[in-house]
Amino acid sequence: MTVAERPADKHASWRGRAESAEADRTSAETDDAESIKELRSQSRRLLGWMMRPHKKAIGFLCGILVVQNFTSMATPLLVMFGIDHAIPAIGERDDYSVLIAIAVTFAAVAIVKYVCVRLYIAQSAKVGNAMLYALRNRVFRKFQALSVSFHERFTSGRVTARQSSDMEAIREMTENGVDDLVLAGLNVVTITIVMLVLDPLLAAVSLMTFPLMLLLGRWFSRVSALAYRRARETVALLIVYFVESMGGVRAVQAYRREERDRELFADLNTDNRFAQAKGHQQNAFMSGGMRAIGHLATVVVLLFGGWQVMQGNTEVGVLAAFLLYMKRFFDPLNELVQFYNVLQSATSALEKLSGVLDEEVEVPEPEEPRAIERPSGELRFANVRFQYREDHVVLPGLDLLVPGGQTLALVGATGAGKTTIAKLVSRFYDPTAGSVALDGVDLRDLSEQDLRENIVMITQENFLFNGTIAENIELGSPGSSRDRIVEAAEVVGAHEFIESLPEGYDTHVRKRGGRLSAGQRQLVVFARAFLADPRVLILDEATSSLDIPSERLVQRALRTILADRTAIIIAHRLSTVEIADRVLVLEQGRIIEDGRPADLIDHGGQYATLHRQWEDSLV
Ligand SMILES: Nc1ncnc2c1ncn2[C@@H]1O[C@H](COP(=O)(O)OP(=O)(O)O)[C@@H](O)[C@H]1O
Ligand SMILES: [Mg+2]
Repeated sequence: MTVAERPADKHASWRGRAESAEADRTSAETDDAESIKELRSQSRRLLGWMMRPHKKAIGFLCGILVVQNFTSMATPLLVMFGIDHAIPAIGERDDYSVLIAIAVTFAAVAIVKYVCVRLYIAQSAKVGNAMLYALRNRVFRKFQALSVSFHERFTSGRVTARQSSDMEAIREMTENGVDDLVLAGLNVVTITIVMLVLDPLLAAVSLMTFPLMLLLGRWFSRVSALAYRRARETVALLIVYFVESMGGVRAVQAYRREERDRELFADLNTDNRFAQAKGHQQNAFMSGGMRAIGHLATVVVLLFGGWQVMQGNTEVGVLAAFLLYMKRFFDPLNELVQFYNVLQSATSALEKLSGVLDEEVEVPEPEEPRAIERPSGELRFANVRFQYREDHVVLPGLDLLVPGGQTLALVGATGAGKTTIAKLVSRFYDPTAGSVALDGVDLRDLSEQDLRENIVMITQENFLFNGTIAENIELGSPGSSRDRIVEAAEVVGAHEFIESLPEGYDTHVRKRGGRLSAGQRQLVVFARAFLADPRVLILDEATSSLDIPSERLVQRALRTILADRTAIIIAHRLSTVEIADRVLVLEQGRIIEDGRPADLIDHGGQYATLHRQWEDSLV
């Protein structure tokens, strides 16, 4: 079965979306001359950055390759001397000295070559490892520094692909093949020179097949660029799909999506298989072709050279040297064909990585942060306009003053913009226009540290880090004593369940807190926030994942947790909203009601309706 016969694509739409999502542009994938130039210079800069600390070592490696190249040049010459001078000397004068001298030189060359190869492999692996080490760290730090908005666009699967398959491609390049590339280049030049010096006519005939080889090489680089690109894309899609499907494995099982996911995966896997097969077919054709051309060249040299020897125009030794040089000429080029694939992958990996590294941090740290002493927690939205995308305004113009210490509840239909307001207060995003300020200081002027110390947001995704429960609570205020950690757990009502665990506070939460229930995880997160003691606490649907008994527990603790600080609560259950001092009802990013809960109920608007429905549901 060939690629063309691949079964009809049943999942074209997912693939389309995934492909466009995975389309971090690389030069092989865009026709726009400007962006190709930009990408190339980006990745050259990155390569330069990787190589800079190792300038000396790389220079040393190049030196080794030059010496190694000379050793390969020497052996055919020694053979030539052997045939043309050493053997005649024995025949004519019974003189073995020339042959012995040649043998000794031969041995010396072999030793030099051994040293070169050994040094090269050890040194290049060291340099390659060091470069990769620095790159991995840099990419990790960059992904960490990039804003939430970047990660909302750039899926976890793609992040994984950058750290795995792209790094692997670069590692392969640094580990094997660079020497072939350099040696092939050196060989072509030096062999041509030596042959021209030895016998210009025979050299011209020997190199006649060179243009043929160049043509084949050009053809191959064009078609294989396509095939290998396809192969790389399909591998990346496999990784992206795998990571995302496994990341959501609970949902997949809950909704019985296994069958569909399996089909999709098998489909992508098939794509990859055929893309790889196509690449290998071309590779086979190219390798075979190169070898055939090499042999053809040898035949030509043998025929023409033999005739020349018969005519007395050249020596047998020269012909022998030429035949050996032909082999040395074509063999590295053959290796290069294999390396071409590695080089292509590495180039596009470099382009993708440099693309990520050049991403701008959308919420940059201020150059000169403004200090904020003992803030009261007053929040002010001044004419805030916000949109995630060009075509859709989420907040058209929000004016809002939340005095320090107030507990504010946000109510409104899904999509009204509640979470967006919370994200703006946490500065996951900056407003498109207008400003958000804490105690009169624009959030953009606050240092990251002040921001994170003063404003904490808890969402439904109650994330626990790998470690013990105590460590997870301690994150709120690193360095806290065990007493304070326990106290925080007691306040939020988490102490009892933690004590009932096998190792109490020292129980390890499994990856993603797998051992605890959603409600228990949320209680741990509450304890962490309480220990952090921020001026502003935001709860975005934070109690929605709790079962009724756990919610009661938190409910009771909530008054304590929220006392003495500004709080923004987003909740569907009005039981949580009731404790607020003030309620805002939002509709499409606009405030349509604003007041104390009791007043709003009397006022008979939307909140009153919601409240009546909630009361009815309780009966
Ligand atoms: N990351 C995002 N990118 C693009 N649009 C978004 C993003 N997050 C939310 N939106 C859009 O912004 C609007 C408000 O969303 P959100 O603030 O999450 O509403 P709520 O929390 O009130 O349900 C919705 O129309 C939603 O589709
Ligand atoms: Mg929301």
